Amino acid sequence: MFITFEGPEGCGKSTHAKKLKTFLEGKGFQVLLTQEPGGTQVGKHIRGLLLDPQNVLDEKTEIYLFAADRTEHVSKVIKPALASGKIVVSDRYTDSTLAYQIGGRNLPEDLVEYIVNASSKDLKPDLTILLDVSPEIGIKRATQASAPDRFEKEKLEFHENVRKKYLEIAEKNHSRVKTINTDKKGIEEIQSEIRQIVEKKFRKQ
Ligand code: TYD
Repeated sequence: MFITFEGPEGCGKSTHAKKLKTFLEGKGFQVLLTQEPGGTQVGKHIRGLLLDPQNVLDEKTEIYLFAADRTEHVSKVIKPALASGKIVVSDRYTDSTLAYQIGGRNLPEDLVEYIVNASSKDLKPDLTILLDVSPEIGIKRATQASAPDRFEKEKLEFHENVRKKYLEIAEKNHSRVKTINTDKKGIEEIQSEIRQIVEKKFRKQ
């Protein structure tokens, strides 16, 4: 099973992905927790280029870097782990590219979709947890602990457009993408909803 976590800045994906891994391991599964960008050795370098606020990148350079990161990630990490019977949990994947590069950057849909399909080698998640958050709350949470990265520094409108695109993706793919709004919920409540969604998915498979 391939599970992805998605959402705007400060939605809590990383916390919940880690907690889900612990929960699934407690049930006896082998779980690989990974992330984009930066899920491979080369990907870590690419991540540095993408997040450094000092780098001013053309939008196309940006998406090609995400595509390069994903190509490495899918072929060297995700596919081998799935083939060895592990559950793979990825903190961000293809929906991030659709939400950020179409919604946020306004790149043409057909170009982004082509790049997404090519770089993911058509590997689709079985389940996606979208942790929705309003941009004002998310940005505050994301920049509390560390200095803002290149994306966190974007205007509020950028983050509003990313969120809008995520919600549109969820509506179009409602059997795969399950949305939880995190604005007013505590970590334990959200994690319990995530576990219920995952267990339901297991029962269906
Ligand atoms: P990261 O620190 O992983 O984000 P977060 O802390 O919110 O999980 O940084 C990844 C950034 O890259 C994030 O702002 C979203 C962006 N991104 C894209 O724009 N397109 C993509 O395809 C991916 C995978 C990420």
